[in-house]
Amino acid sequence: MLQDKSGRQFHYLRLSVTDVCNFKCTYCLPDGYQCDTSREFLSIAEIKRVVRAFAALGTSKVRITGGEPGLRKDLSEIIQICASTPGINQVALTTNGFNLEKNIESWVNAGLTSLNVSIDSLDSKMFKAITGFNKLDSILRGLAKASVLGLDNIKINAVLMKQFNAHELNSYKEWLKDKPYTLRFIELMQTGDNQSFFSANHVSGLSIKQQLIEQNWLPVIKRKEAGPAEEYYHPNFKGKIGLIMPYSPDFCASCNRLRVSALGQLHLCLFADEGLDLRQFMQSDEQQSDLQNYLTEALSGKKASHYLQQGLTGATRHLAMLGG
Ligand code: GTP
Ligand code: 5AD
Ligand code: SF4
Repeated sequence: MLQDKSGRQFHYLRLSVTDVCNFKCTYCLPDGYQCDTSREFLSIAEIKRVVRAFAALGTSKVRITGGEPGLRKDLSEIIQICASTPGINQVALTTNGFNLEKNIESWVNAGLTSLNVSIDSLDSKMFKAITGFNKLDSILRGLAKASVLGLDNIKINAVLMKQFNAHELNSYKEWLKDKPYTLRFIELMQTGDNQSFFSANHVSGLSIKQQLIEQNWLPVIKRKEAGPAEEYYHPNFKGKIGLIMPYSPDFCASCNRLRVSALGQLHLCLFADEGLDLRQFMQSDEQQSDLQNYLTEALSGKKASHYLQQGLTGATRHLAMLGG
């Protein structure tokens, strides 16, 4: 099992397959952002090799992220490659939901086992104001389809922002009364590109936690391999609520994830200074042991925590670069 100096273990790979996104979420991509689409993202052969190397080092879960992974025409094939790699027993996808309704069936048939979808508002107009797209109804239908297809650990992500959707906390809760989803409120993070937006819109996750506790929501006991989200349940609600609070002091102590970008760079933290080039070791099957050795050694450079509290965002201009 991959392990770092602080004893944190890594059975989980977050693999970005593109950094292109069609949504333009206010907090993520800046106004007028134009993506450079000329780059060559990891090929199926490269993905196969990198996933195989991680699996040989004890990785059992791959989360496919972007940008928007659903924009890749070969996403079902990517899912199938991950699912059929010996040692991998969980293949998860984080998506903005744009192609969910249309493609969820083929993703599940390819071997998808879990799904995270961003829904930053339950009000169509607000959803459009935040993302630029009138897609809420289609995404909700896609989610219902995913449940029918047997996905039973669906997570919804929402970033609460003062000037946009912070007043929707109660509508989200009502929505969860009869939905078997885990809704995670992600605290808005500062990135290189969103500094003034961050100052104007950041809502503390601790204030949401306080409200939940006052309304008798109870903490879910964390499993050993669980990531940094804190989860709460309530006997009167089918859904659960998770809080992702990167500004709380112990957040990074339970970090269980490594990231590989769509260009094959290893990122030891979402906010690290630079990526390490793995792609040079993904060019032939014979390089697998080199890749594994490189990975094992690279982990010694993983820092104990990010420095977001000091306003340091490393090389991360926006999270679409790395899939969060
Ligand atoms: P699972 O535990 O596999 O469900 O993953 P997750 O909760 O990380 O999944 P998802 O891709 O939906 O991520 C939600 C968001 O939480 C990310 O995009 C980030 O914004 C935030 N997040 C997740 N992991 C980290 C982390 O290690 N550090 C920081 N700062 N934020 C994170
Ligand atoms: N702060 C918090 N969450 C963010 N995401 C993207 N950018 C940010 C940010 N600056 C979230 C998206 C999505 C997840 C993959 O990352 O809302 O749910
Ligand atoms: Fe929105 Fe995610 Fe796309 Fe960023 S990468 S613009 S958060 S959908």
